[in-house]
Amino acid sequence: MMADITYLEGKEPHALEKRLIFKNVDRKDWDTSIDTYLNVGGYNSLKKAIKLKPQEVTGQVKASGLRGRGGAGFPTGLKWSFIPPDNEKPVYLICNCDESEPGTFKDRYIVHQDPHQLIEGMIITAYAIGCKLAYIYVREEFPQAAQILEQAIKEAKSKNFLGTNILGADFDLEIYIHRGAGAYICGEETGLIESLEGKRPYPRIKPPYFPAALGLYMCPTIVNNVESLCHVTHILSMGSEEYAKLGTPRNTGTRILCLSGDVRNPGYVEVEVGKITMRQLLYDIGGGPLKGRAFKAVIPGGSSSKILKCDEVFSITQGDQKVDLDFWDIPLDFDTLAACGSMAGSGGVIVLDNTRKMSWVLNNINHFYAHESCGQCTPCREGSMWMKKISDRIVEGKANAEDIKTLEEVAYQIDGRTICAFGEASAWPVEAIIAKFKDELIADTSEDNTYISKEKELQQQFFQT
Ligand SMILES: Cc1cc2nc3c(=O)[nH]c(=O)nc-3n(C[C@H](O)[C@H](O)[C@H](O)COP(=O)(O)O)c2cc1C
Ligand code: SF4
Repeated sequence: MMADITYLEGKEPHALEKRLIFKNVDRKDWDTSIDTYLNVGGYNSLKKAIKLKPQEVTGQVKASGLRGRGGAGFPTGLKWSFIPPDNEKPVYLICNCDESEPGTFKDRYIVHQDPHQLIEGMIITAYAIGCKLAYIYVREEFPQAAQILEQAIKEAKSKNFLGTNILGADFDLEIYIHRGAGAYICGEETGLIESLEGKRPYPRIKPPYFPAALGLYMCPTIVNNVESLCHVTHILSMGSEEYAKLGTPRNTGTRILCLSGDVRNPGYVEVEVGKITMRQLLYDIGGGPLKGRAFKAVIPGGSSSKILKCDEVFSITQGDQKVDLDFWDIPLDFDTLAACGSMAGSGGVIVLDNTRKMSWVLNNINHFYAHESCGQCTPCREGSMWMKKISDRIVEGKANAEDIKTLEEVAYQIDGRTICAFGEASAWPVEAIIAKFKDELIADTSEDNTYISKEKELQQQFFQT
């Protein structure tokens, strides 16, 4: 299908790419109008979907194996089926277009260049879940995206893809744009819902506030990422069986990877999930390290994922076998990255080379999380600030080795003790950087104190009791 598409010079897809979602991104003679979208078969998936029963559409999405592209990789069809069957309240759909995870820059390109693909995916999703009112939560820093989407909604309405009795069916839907106020925590689904209700984006505790049961205005609400919703359009177009042939079992379809940092060719690529390795991403697509430098480490799924060293070997279970997997051979899928102790997250792959000091990287990440904590729970509010202060001291050469131990302890005290997953998002990078680059951090401290890791200390305590 891609053979007859021409792309802007220098923007052609890489040979290792498989484009579904980004098929029209950077395409020549392409614009965001509905006529352009209709010319390439746009809204045909909706026409197909509307002839099916809503449960059949959900069934297709379940059978496709689609897992959410917003961060957690949760199965999309399964999430939809969590809406209570005896529900009598309104059901809402929210498209999460907050894209706030550092290192991630895919959703904005979808919206800037192919907004109708998203609108179509949302209409199909709304039909499947019985929703009449949907929102797109657009981060404050994307003002152009909000304008483009407003225009796309207007156009979709003019063709009766939105409004009442859509395409003659007993199905009504309105979509509204809601602009965020610029905070990372607004990307967390329950914080987002609070913000949409006009309040501070304080995340809600789960359970009981799982959005599918108690979401917007305490009604069942499905929150999905921009890219996830676009995949729905393609699942309906291709059929779930064909879609599931893309990628690997349990990790189906394609996904967009955002490659940034110390690599020759940073940018975005859409690949089949699990079909390319770290080596192919960094060398074949990324072009290798910058001149005179060497790759050192990779943060594979946005800043909150645990860092991986380029010389690591992971002992993991594949099928029913234990195997040693070299960093360079990691296939980029949800399950393998989790088995290697990290996560595929939002697809933001941040590359670090040998010129990067780990104390600087750690400090940079800590500054971000200390600034973005919503402040609602003590371990996160205080802990993120302490972590920042300690890493400030490390980069200033004013810390001692004992401070690194304290830093590690603070991270472990946050992890698992907060209302939302921001706690882990801020603690995991610290835990992983200390575990893997302890010597380098200690070398940056001012005194040569003996360092006892948290793990070792716990072992000692265990054997003493
Ligand atoms: C701190 C934090 C920030 C998040 N930011 C985003 C975001 O910017 N965009 C997004 O789609 N999901 C984000 N998520 C995940 C959402 O809470 C939610 O799981 C996701 O939107 C669900 O969509 P999916 O099932 O399609 O992946 C974030 C989660 C956390 C804990
Ligand atoms: S973990 Fe952090 S961001 Fe999440 S609710 Fe608690 S204070 Fe707010």
